[in-house]
Amino acid sequence: MAQRETWTSRVGFIFAAVGSAVGLGNIWSFPFQTASNGGAAFLVVYLLAVFLIGFPTMLIEFVIGRRSKQNAISAFGELGYGNWTFAGALGVASAFITLSFYSVVGGWVISYIVGSLTGGYLGDPGTFFGAVSSGTVAVGAHAVFMLVTVGIVAFGVADGIERATKFMIPAIIVLLVGLAAWAATLSGAGAGYAYYLSPDFGVLAANFGDIVPSAMGQAFFTLSLGFGVMIAYASYMGRDDSLPADSAIIVVINTIVALLAGFAVFPILAATSGVGNASGGAGTAFIALAGAFGQLPVGWLIGLVFFVVLLFAALSSSISLLEAPTSYVVDTYGTSRATVAVGVGAVAFVLGIIPAYGYVGLFNDLVFDVLLPLAVLFISLFVGWVADAESVDELVQGTRLSSGATTLWLWWVRIVVPIAVLVTLYLGVTGFYSGLVSGAYF
Ligand code: PFF
Repeated sequence: MAQRETWTSRVGFIFAAVGSAVGLGNIWSFPFQTASNGGAAFLVVYLLAVFLIGFPTMLIEFVIGRRSKQNAISAFGELGYGNWTFAGALGVASAFITLSFYSVVGGWVISYIVGSLTGGYLGDPGTFFGAVSSGTVAVGAHAVFMLVTVGIVAFGVADGIERATKFMIPAIIVLLVGLAAWAATLSGAGAGYAYYLSPDFGVLAANFGDIVPSAMGQAFFTLSLGFGVMIAYASYMGRDDSLPADSAIIVVINTIVALLAGFAVFPILAATSGVGNASGGAGTAFIALAGAFGQLPVGWLIGLVFFVVLLFAALSSSISLLEAPTSYVVDTYGTSRATVAVGVGAVAFVLGIIPAYGYVGLFNDLVFDVLLPLAVLFISLFVGWVADAESVDELVQGTRLSSGATTLWLWWVRIVVPIAVLVTLYLGVTGFYSGLVSGAYF
């Protein structure tokens, strides 16, 4: 069999992992989840979830991936625990489902780029969203987005994924900084910052049961955890890097990008239609922002920049979602990567036709509320209680971690992460179930 691929360097790995993390979750969901959940109060809980739960969980995936040098499904058997393969399979299945609806939203972004150039959404953003978000236009744009995703993954780990993310991540950061700086000059921007940055703990106390699972789900999703993606990415890395250092860099850059997105979105909304209009489901973000761009001078150009940023972010993540199942098939059957990427992408495209006909919310909530916490629960129990000795040994490779620090991590993974995830899972499943029976998704 051909030799397994690797990143060209540590920096290449970091770009790819940041690319996976930085996505629609940062720029589309994060500001709007913050707006729906009481502004800065949500931000505080989210940051705690990212650093206290997300960061140690990322190390779980890195340890499994680098130790086994295998995709997320084969990794467990390779480590000698074949009966845990289901945990990896659940994650990869979730990645596949996520890819199917993520690509639909990626398709919306393509339509909004076209709409920026034609001025299509500037007059009536609600009608435009209705026209592009479901039906044949949505399916067509979803196909285009999936094709580009497949094209990048087909080129390989270093020549496809690494090269694409090395271009897209700097572009995202430069353009977002530009947008945020421009937004600061708008009159009325101050009200946006106030909403974003001054926490109202009354809101937090009153909505704790909603805010905590949203923040935790968002923390896992934004860091691409639970789906075997970070296992696959870490399996292509060398043994001498420090996993905690790499993980810290990835978490910090991902957080900076989300915060930057808030610094662009909140002043723009506050200066136009108001922050209050931005809360709500999948579509409100597009409608509220497009409406805001319509009220701004050269709004089409601001919109164009924003949606290009969103497209790069979405693509650099969708390639990782495709890589998780692709790496499994390539590792297991030795089939050519290009063939596998096309095949997996085609099936995910077909599955995505369902969300493209109006069920993005259903798919999104199934992933956020149920699949994600479940997958994280299993891998944390696996590393904490089953493969604990190997995991600690792998964690310290390439580091000068003290034994106190590694012990803390291990107990954190054993106790704190599973409890936090169980609470999230309980609240998520009950929320999802009540959505199903109330008919909210149909
Ligand atoms: N982290 C990506 C985002 O924030 O949009 C989404 C994502 C990618 C989730 C890959 C999970 C994953 F495995």
